[in-house]
Amino acid sequence: MRVDRFLSNLPRFNRQQVRLLLIERRVRVDGEIVSDPHHNVREFSRVECNGEVLQEGRPARYFMLHKPMGCVSATTDPQHPTVLDLFAEPDKSELHIAGRLDFNTSGLMLITNDGQWSRRLTQPQTKIAKIYYVETEQLIGPEYVEKFLEGFYFAFEDLTTQPAELTILGPREARLSIVEGRYHQVKRMFGFFNNKVLRLHREQMGALVLDNTLAPGEYRPLTAEEIQQI
Ligand code: URA
Repeated sequence: MRVDRFLSNLPRFNRQQVRLLLIERRVRVDGEIVSDPHHNVREFSRVECNGEVLQEGRPARYFMLHKPMGCVSATTDPQHPTVLDLFAEPDKSELHIAGRLDFNTSGLMLITNDGQWSRRLTQPQTKIAKIYYVETEQLIGPEYVEKFLEGFYFAFEDLTTQPAELTILGPREARLSIVEGRYHQVKRMFGFFNNKVLRLHREQMGALVLDNTLAPGEYRPLTAEEIQQI
């Protein structure tokens, strides 16, 4: 929300007073003086006026999980363990998943209470690369590389996938970098060749690499630097 709206929503200030407070540089957001009425105030922002705290700001939380196979990317599930069951954190209901993985896909998963941050990560327009290690049932031929670059037509969404970079690592294994995150995207791409994906593991999202000290099922908070990288 804009800082001028945030302030004028408070019972104590009218619009004229808000204008003056900003012009007179009496308002701070996260410690910085703010005079631009468009400056963004979030639920996580600390807002002060004349030295008085108007909003503490909720702590923003960010975690990296090594998702194991056999667990659901949901907050609740009647049958199976969920990724949130792996978290021993307070107020878990505030947390959400930034980029789901299928039941039997393992690897890097990011969990946060910051919707703006997770949208940046998952919106196709931001083109953040997701890197997967893939093992398949059938051989992966050299013709795959060109097709992945060219794109696959997905009839359900009526779109052609963005160029994807496939590196063949062995007869039935590859590393794949994609910028979208469509439903079952990797499996559907290999499905074009009638080649079943037997193992799928996400190694990286943008600059964030799965910490190799995390065993499947373990998680840790992101560092300040990692949060900035998205
Ligand atoms: N693509 C898939 O098919 N499955 C995943 O879990 C992630 C990407």
